[in-house]
Amino acid sequence: MKLIGKEIFLAPLKQKDCHTLFKTTEYDPNTELDRPVEYTKEKADEWYEEIQKSQHKTHVRLGIFTSENEVVGDVAIQDIDNNNHSATLGLGIAKLSNRRKGIGYEAMLLIIDYAFNKLNINRLSAETSVINSSAINLLLKLNFKHEGVLRQAKYCHTHYYDIHIFGLLKEDIKKA
Ligand SMILES: CC(C)(COP(=O)(O)OP(=O)(O)OC[C@H]1O[C@@H](n2cnc3c(N)ncnc32)[C@H](O)[C@@H]1OP(=O)(O)O)[C@@H](O)C(=O)NCCC(=O)NCCS
Repeated sequence: MKLIGKEIFLAPLKQKDCHTLFKTTEYDPNTELDRPVEYTKEKADEWYEEIQKSQHKTHVRLGIFTSENEVVGDVAIQDIDNNNHSATLGLGIAKLSNRRKGIGYEAMLLIIDYAFNKLNINRLSAETSVINSSAINLLLKLNFKHEGVLRQAKYCHTHYYDIHIFGLLKEDIKKA
């Protein structure tokens, strides 16, 4: 499976891609609460195995690749609920130098289209901490609606942080 955009494409992650993403993921303390898990060969292999177990069952996780075939991030339809036709979305661009270049936006457009039109999903949701202005702006730009706040739902570095919930319906795309 391959979802092709203008600057990037989405495709299944191979084992070596999982190692690359684990090794190259950086952390922006201005927008992220949790530091990335430190790389070990075992943890990267475990992540790869975990992806295979649930792929096309409860999630669809794909790598984000440049036209030079370099893996720069991953995007996922998660928690697929076939009874309610709903799922959550996850996204990460590994290196800070690859962020703010339009990659996350394009990856989201591709995976949202796949979820609504190929998986018969009706509702996608995403949640992010209050400090993650990058994710909040990205979701708003994609026409997600702000649906609510889980007050003090995240405890990190001795502080509680609110978690914001965003939702996008299939019919929101038709209206946009
Ligand atoms: C959130 C994240 C995925 C955004 O990906 P990205 O490739 O850097 O985003 P894009 O360059 O495609 O930006 C798309 C829009 O997102 C918003 N955005 C992205 N980075 C931003 C920043 N640093 N400050 C403010 N807005 C930002 C803007 O609205 C931007 O549109 P614009 O450039 O027209 O203003 C990236 O910062 C990341 O990987 N963060 C760590 C993981 C994470 O927070 N994941 C949560 C996803 S719900």
